[in-house]
Amino acid sequence: MEKTICITGGAGFIGSHAVRLFVKKYPAYMIVNVDSLTYAGNLENLTDVENNPNYKFVKADITNQQQVNILFHEYRFDGIIHLAAESHVDRSITNPLEFINTNIIGTVNLLHAAKERWKGNYSGKAFYHISTDEVFGSLGNEGYFTENTPYDPRSPYSASKASSDHLVRAYHNTYGLPILISNCSNNYGPNQFPEKLIPLAINNIKSSNPIPVYGKGENIRDWLYVEDHARAIDAIFHQGKNGETYAIGGNNEWKNIDLIRLLCRYMDEKLKRAPGTSEKLISFVTDRAGHDLRYAIDSSKLRDELGWEPSLSFEEGLRKTVDWYLEHETWLRHIVEGDYATYYERQYQER
Ligand code: NAD
Ligand code: DAU
Repeated sequence: MEKTICITGGAGFIGSHAVRLFVKKYPAYMIVNVDSLTYAGNLENLTDVENNPNYKFVKADITNQQQVNILFHEYRFDGIIHLAAESHVDRSITNPLEFINTNIIGTVNLLHAAKERWKGNYSGKAFYHISTDEVFGSLGNEGYFTENTPYDPRSPYSASKASSDHLVRAYHNTYGLPILISNCSNNYGPNQFPEKLIPLAINNIKSSNPIPVYGKGENIRDWLYVEDHARAIDAIFHQGKNGETYAIGGNNEWKNIDLIRLLCRYMDEKLKRAPGTSEKLISFVTDRAGHDLRYAIDSSKLRDELGWEPSLSFEEGLRKTVDWYLEHETWLRHIVEGDYATYYERQYQER
């Protein structure tokens, strides 16, 4: 094998798309998916590549320093693409400590192991940290986040991700560790856990349950199809400059309520329901605490320097997403029949 690459969080939503892209596109790389399989980790996301000779899954917890050290010793990774995290803002509001542990301690365990393992020979190595645009805070009606926007995280999730970004840069500045960071906007697409807005709404519309829209639905997000994020990860990992940060976005801003109305229209068509049927399910509920108003990314650095741009329109991406969820009933059922019901009740019962 030419290289051994560790992808952390590879059983999650974005991680599974990154794993699939790397396993298929780079047969000369050994891809080691390191994931502890929390509620969000799901090996059913990777059944199509699980028997490939250049893929290996290792169940390990990045918050356990000893487990991380053993992994680095055993596999002698040449590169790390670090996606493992607690990723849902609402869960960070109810349980912030878990986010501190996974997102901060977990990241520093990996950084430390990479520094120790690669000491004295950083050539050809890279620690690539996948982060979020939420570290930049909340925009008003105008302007965009860029790589130079000052950090202003406002939820326990975004504060923990900001902290991990700072630690990655600290290991670069202090120890010379070769690093890359990207901050991406909201992803959507197949395999997303149905706690996030789009799959949650698809699931609820399918079963004719209320669609909970926080506040007045005026908040704005910039949506990117997950396979386009995986393509950006590939471009940055292979062509990004050591020490640099790249902002990734879909150039595709939607008010939540407009997005949900569009989704309702597609679902009515798909499920052969009368126009307007799904919209009746919209239910405005108590807002998220500290709800950031708007995220929007200017990804011109990535486009100009590495030639990346989104490949799909939102219309295509959203229709593909709806089709995927309707065609993968078993995948969805395995989730909603598990602990999900308890989570859902706690999260939405009193809103
Ligand atoms: P996800 O919640 O779907 O998956 C996270 C994965 O990490 C799961 O497979 C889980 O089992 C694993 N994991 C969690 N704790 C772990 C631990 N202690 N040890 C090992 N594995 C552990 O998340 P996602 O939406 O795919 O996000 C992946 C990354 O991308 C995160 O770092 C997130 O901050 C970032 N990101 C997400 C988005 C988005 O819209 N989803 C946008 C920008 C950035
Ligand atoms: O911007 C990148 C971030 O996008 C990632 O770092 C996070 O990991 C990812 O979860 C996502 O965060 P958001 O909080 O923006 O995503 P979520 O799908 O939870 O919510 C999208 C918008 O929809 C947000 O304004 C809150 C709103 N919402 C969400 C849920 C779950 C609702 O109105 N109702 C809901 O039930």
